[in-house]
Amino acid sequence: MYHEIHLDQIDIHSEPPTVEPEKQYYYMAKCREWVKDFEQKNGRLPKSCVVNFGCQMNARDSEKLAGILRQIGYEEEKDEKKSDFVIFNTCTVRENANQRLYGRLGQLGRAKKQNPDMKIALCGCMMQESEAVEKLKKSYSFVGLVFGTHNLYKFAELLFLSLDSERMVIDIWKDTDKIVEKIPSQRKYSFKSGVNIMFGCNNFCSYCIVPYVRGRERSRKPQDILREIEGLAAEGVVEVMLLGQNVNSYGKTLERPMSFAGLLREIEKIDGIQRIRFMTSHPKDLSKELIQVMGQSKKICRHLHLPIQSGSSRILEKMNRRYTKEQYLKLVEDIRRAVPDISLTTDLIVGFPGETEADFLETLDVVRKVRYDAAFTFQYSKRTGTPAAAMEEQVSLEVVKERFERLLKEVQAISTEVCKVHTGSIQEVLVESVNEQDASLLTGRMSNNLLVHFPGSPSLVGTLVSVRLKECRGFYYMGEPLKNGRTCEKGRLVQ
Ligand code: SAH
Ligand code: SF4
Ligand code: F3S
Repeated sequence: MYHEIHLDQIDIHSEPPTVEPEKQYYYMAKCREWVKDFEQKNGRLPKSCVVNFGCQMNARDSEKLAGILRQIGYEEEKDEKKSDFVIFNTCTVRENANQRLYGRLGQLGRAKKQNPDMKIALCGCMMQESEAVEKLKKSYSFVGLVFGTHNLYKFAELLFLSLDSERMVIDIWKDTDKIVEKIPSQRKYSFKSGVNIMFGCNNFCSYCIVPYVRGRERSRKPQDILREIEGLAAEGVVEVMLLGQNVNSYGKTLERPMSFAGLLREIEKIDGIQRIRFMTSHPKDLSKELIQVMGQSKKICRHLHLPIQSGSSRILEKMNRRYTKEQYLKLVEDIRRAVPDISLTTDLIVGFPGETEADFLETLDVVRKVRYDAAFTFQYSKRTGTPAAAMEEQVSLEVVKERFERLLKEVQAISTEVCKVHTGSIQEVLVESVNEQDASLLTGRMSNNLLVHFPGSPSLVGTLVSVRLKECRGFYYMGEPLKNGRTCEKGRLVQ
């Protein structure tokens, strides 16, 4: 770990420190005492399970929760029903995310009846909504701990408070301008890692709940980010994914502002890091400087996720996206000129209030013009408290479903065609795992984010390998590795 924590050296009988993260280390040490007692009583360590419901940002937060639990001494358990402590890290971006949560929580409540000592905690975006917390208090009183997105760093302290408490411990903050560094985390992969570069969002797209539940935009200091990535590289991480709701506006809130492109230039210099990814890019803030850096970089992956949401400039205005269809298409042109083989992906919403058939056809038109490598398509979901929820002319579910099907068909037909174009080429692949279905195969990810399965030894997991793409099967490839001694750069073979 890039910063060692020595819990054994902490005096847990003194008053807690007043500064962070030391105060949290103190509570981790206190929880560890509790774990030791548990072990003595039960003859085993307590088991914990972290379940993630949200986006990559939530996934990174979940790694922090898991890291804290590991420091405390919990044993990781995959099955939530067999765990002594379960935490659900929630998402509320669309209604179905909420429904899924209540479904899983109901099931877990039944499991808790068999094991009354099980402690259940909830955190994340949904907990920032007061209606959700009220509902929990009323109908899910078996939940023991509830906290939100702004005070996740306080998890050890809150856990300690709740361990011997019978009542529901609730701590939700409205917002924060604080960033607490050096919270431990347990990475899912040893060779790649997400890295938060900023938190929150100031864009207030009119349909979106994220700015309300994640708070105002704030960037981490470049030196904190760089130190973390250097530490990751020292531990063998070769790929980093820089995370933020709008990475293109990175650095604007810093005392000494720095652009996202400037940050990328610094990360590029870190030895050991071979691949850099980032998400998400808002088109309105994508600068010429960034396009230039992407064109020159040897490490930035040839993939850009650039959500458009709608192809209709009229709807984009109502969405408060602050770009037009034409500006977006021009941006795509500029990016493709600088990085010709870039893979482009996007997010699309159908059925935003007031969307007409003509507006929808504009979206289809963009899809046909850009020819995305992949697109995530969503049915508009009304989020209470957002401006769009109060708009008249909500589109009927029937129309939304019909447009959604048409869009999905178009998107899939195009991406299967686009995916095929790499057949026969040689690509550098980061081997991510042994194939789940066939253990003689490895699964790797190309720079453009496509997956390829090929024969190879499990010892190659976490390394970069040159692979010839033999056959495209829809959205992935089957391939063969090249012989030793050959590497490839940007798809071209070099000896
Ligand atoms: N910050 C990222 C997106 C985060 S949410 C960005 O701006 O690109 C991920 C995606 O969920 C969004 O891009 C959008 O397509 C979708 N989404 C957000 N709110 C939604 C809603 N109310 N209904 C349907 N889809 C929504
Ligand atoms: Fe939501 Fe828009 Fe912020 Fe993305 S940029 S998180 S869509 S408000
Ligand atoms: Fe969901 Fe929160 Fe991410 S609402 S999409 S988990 S920022």
